[in-house]
Amino acid sequence: MKDLFEKIYKDKGPLGKWASQAEGYFVFPKLEGEISNRMKFQGKDVITWSINDYLGLANHPEVRKADAEAGVKYGSAYPMGARMMSGHTDLHEKLQKELAAFVNKEAAYLLNFGYQGILSTIDALVNKHDIIVYDVDAHACIIDGVRLHMGKRFTYKHNDVVSLEKNLERATKMAEQTGGGILVISEGVFGMRGEQGRLKEIAALKKKYKFRFLVDDAHGFGTLGKTGAGAPEEQGVQDDVDVYFATFAKSMASTGAFIAADQEIIDYLKYNLRSQMFAKSLQMQLVVGALKRLEMLKTMPELKNKLWENVNALQSGLRERGFDLGTTQSCVTPVYLKGSIPEAMALVKDLRENFGIFCSIVVYPVIPKGLILLRMIPTGSHTLEDVEETLVAFSSIRERLENGTYKRLSAAVAAAMGE
Ligand SMILES: Cc1ncc(COP(=O)(O)O)c(C=O)c1O
Repeated sequence: MKDLFEKIYKDKGPLGKWASQAEGYFVFPKLEGEISNRMKFQGKDVITWSINDYLGLANHPEVRKADAEAGVKYGSAYPMGARMMSGHTDLHEKLQKELAAFVNKEAAYLLNFGYQGILSTIDALVNKHDIIVYDVDAHACIIDGVRLHMGKRFTYKHNDVVSLEKNLERATKMAEQTGGGILVISEGVFGMRGEQGRLKEIAALKKKYKFRFLVDDAHGFGTLGKTGAGAPEEQGVQDDVDVYFATFAKSMASTGAFIAADQEIIDYLKYNLRSQMFAKSLQMQLVVGALKRLEMLKTMPELKNKLWENVNALQSGLRERGFDLGTTQSCVTPVYLKGSIPEAMALVKDLRENFGIFCSIVVYPVIPKGLILLRMIPTGSHTLEDVEETLVAFSSIRERLENGTYKRLSAAVAAAMGE
């Protein structure tokens, strides 16, 4: 019989195998200083384009004050226990009411983490007779939620409504046999490439097919829609989304999340979300902090306006310089370049060391081989000078990529990686 750890000694996994070349620099980098447009990386000042602090709230003085005061008043333990047992408070209820009203739903329920929360939501909404139909490029938390499902599931091609319809036809036939229902899942904004989920077209299929619609709007909440209520508001389909999910980890610059739906559905979920029933309640400092952030989201439209001023300046500046931003329809700004993984590493190193620009890179297998994706997140705390400096840097790195500089620089890396 084998030792359980034998496989781990041999194979560190698809990402873990790059640890010796990548750790501390490309993965697990340590950004230091206060969360803002400019931070320190390995002692150098860098413009940070990799933090989802969309509205620039992370370091806003009012937010910092609210967080600090709540910390003094409640500490980090209160309330202890799961919501159902001993972790429930008036302020949890107040925040839920305000979130529900903000996203135009009857009720909401807080989640201590988005990932586990949505996973449990999927788990609680379906039984083995039901069928899930979901976008093939869905976030890992949706995939893991679907993994728990004991019944049938179908993926549809990314953001492809024709493919969704085909799968809905199959699912409808199957549900007629099993006696179950259908859950369709999309993201409001796909976080890697920035496209909005085609919520309007998906919602329109409700006229032809019977299904319930769950939307993960992690990147849309606070950034899209007239009031900031997210992608369903932007696309005018709030009423067609049956269960709405958003996290506090992005535009709210915090930790925690929520789901919103009809009262009866939330009443059911609060008794059936295993990740909340058997885990500690969202701590009070985060609840008070979220109330403050939500108030700012509602009363300070200038936060979203500043974000979009920066998004538009960065995206139009890059497009004017001929960069390929794919199909983004949100703040997420992907820049696609052609090159190998070692070239991507040399390029990112150059950006960080010589141009003071910090952004994330995404390479194969997340995107096709031969492509490099530089993923940039503009925020409300960036300035137009940051944008200008970045545009100049990007023109330079493209020139170096095209004239083979990174190929030469990366030869040693490539050899080490066996490419
Ligand atoms: C699309 C999407 N859904 C869910 C989550 C998970 O949220 P949390 O960070 O609150 O666990 C994330 C990441 O934050 C995300 O990008």
